[in-house]
Amino acid sequence: MTASLQGRVAVLGQGYVGLPLAVRAVEVGHTVVGFDPDKDRVDRLRRGQSFIDDITDADLAAALATGRYTPSENPADLADFTVAVVCVPTPLRDGAPDLRYIEDSARMLAPHVTAGSCVVLESTTYPGTTEEVFLPILEAGSGLLAGVDFHVGYSPERIDPGNPTWGLQNTPKIVSGIDEASGAVVSAFYDTVVDRTMAAPGTREAELAKLLENTFRHVNIALVNELAIYCHELGVDVWSVIDLAASKPFGFMKFTPGPGVGGHCLPIDPSYLSWQVRRALGRTFRFVEIANDVNDNMPAYVVSRVAEHLNRRRLAVNGSNVLLVGLSYKRNSGDARESPATAVARRLADLGARLQAVDPLIAPSAVPEPVQLVDCTPDKVAEADVVVVLADHDDVDWDLLEQQGDRVLDTRNRLANPAVDRL
Ligand SMILES: NC(=O)c1ccc[n+]([C@@H]2O[C@H](COP(=O)([O-])OP(=O)(O)OC[C@H]3O[C@@H](n4cnc5c(N)ncnc54)[C@H](O)[C@@H]3O)[C@@H](O)[C@H]2O)c1
Repeated sequence: MTASLQGRVAVLGQGYVGLPLAVRAVEVGHTVVGFDPDKDRVDRLRRGQSFIDDITDADLAAALATGRYTPSENPADLADFTVAVVCVPTPLRDGAPDLRYIEDSARMLAPHVTAGSCVVLESTTYPGTTEEVFLPILEAGSGLLAGVDFHVGYSPERIDPGNPTWGLQNTPKIVSGIDEASGAVVSAFYDTVVDRTMAAPGTREAELAKLLENTFRHVNIALVNELAIYCHELGVDVWSVIDLAASKPFGFMKFTPGPGVGGHCLPIDPSYLSWQVRRALGRTFRFVEIANDVNDNMPAYVVSRVAEHLNRRRLAVNGSNVLLVGLSYKRNSGDARESPATAVARRLADLGARLQAVDPLIAPSAVPEPVQLVDCTPDKVAEADVVVVLADHDDVDWDLLEQQGDRVLDTRNRLANPAVDRL
């Protein structure tokens, strides 16, 4: 056992990021406290019930069976940690970063910080958070000095829920510390958990690298979304255009249009970057503003295309039966956070549409009002005046939808039938 496997690891936040990390840390031999203030969530974890796609109940059962994984909602269980990793939410409040979860977790950890221990922040945030916000709370609450008595670092999570190829273990992990010694301890810990670590020169570079990755995706999705709108008006097939461009083996990366962006990352993280640039430099990060504008407007654009579609058949949105296929924000995931499908559903409902939806992955509690969740049966599909594909989960009867031809608006280019209306 290496030195960093001795002692306890505390993982704060047992959500999409913290739970896979806790389970992986147990798998490689650590003793882990998975702390989360959400008692219901912790109770479910104790019973071996996972609520995220990437961790199965069997994975969780295996972690619990080792006797080295303790889910807990009690901050006292954070005592005696040698490494603590903070994976708490970083939402926006009134368009600005809301760091209260990071601050709360630092306040909870601080009394348990001891000489030689190491605290790592993983939550996505703007550059400077670790050293200017997180670290001072740890010092104030512990009476110890970071860099002298204990170590502090930042390591962004790159998890892509539902990705069958790239997971926590085989995706290179950026690691950083507030000084050389902290960086070395942070690297040593993650070297036990992932295949490869990549050292950043400092915490700010590590923080900004994560924001760059997500802003890159956000901007490129906005580019193809705007292109899709213009292609429709120009009578050009955007999907063919993108496939043709993607045949270039260098200098191009394929992104595809859709009904908008969702999840915890793209609708939020780029705004952390633009907020920081505005606050620190008084400048506007124009790429982020434009991408936000384009992507935020995609649900409204999809609704306008639904209206156009119905109009061709002399139907109004008001009173029409609309069947939505896929309510989560992306393929093969049940995650409905910030899903553009919710915005599409609300707008259609406001216009008087009667809404039903097919989504084999979504939790019934995440279905937006007044949408009724149904099975993808021939009867339900036949009832619909228009079928709108918003997320193309594999576990949907695509053959049945192929047969619906021009009654379908496909925002994901999943269907091959040339009669289907595409974004
Ligand atoms: N979900 C992703 O795909 C993803 C990918 C990369 C990075 N991130 C980032 O990781 C961070 C966590 O995201 P997530 O998706 O895991 O969120 P999540 O909502 O799934 O989980 C966060 C958990 O933290 C808990 N929590 C709240 N306050 C806490 C506290 N004071 N101490 C301990 N736990 C607390 C919540 O109860 C919740 O269970 C965010 O900054 C996010 O941007 C997310």
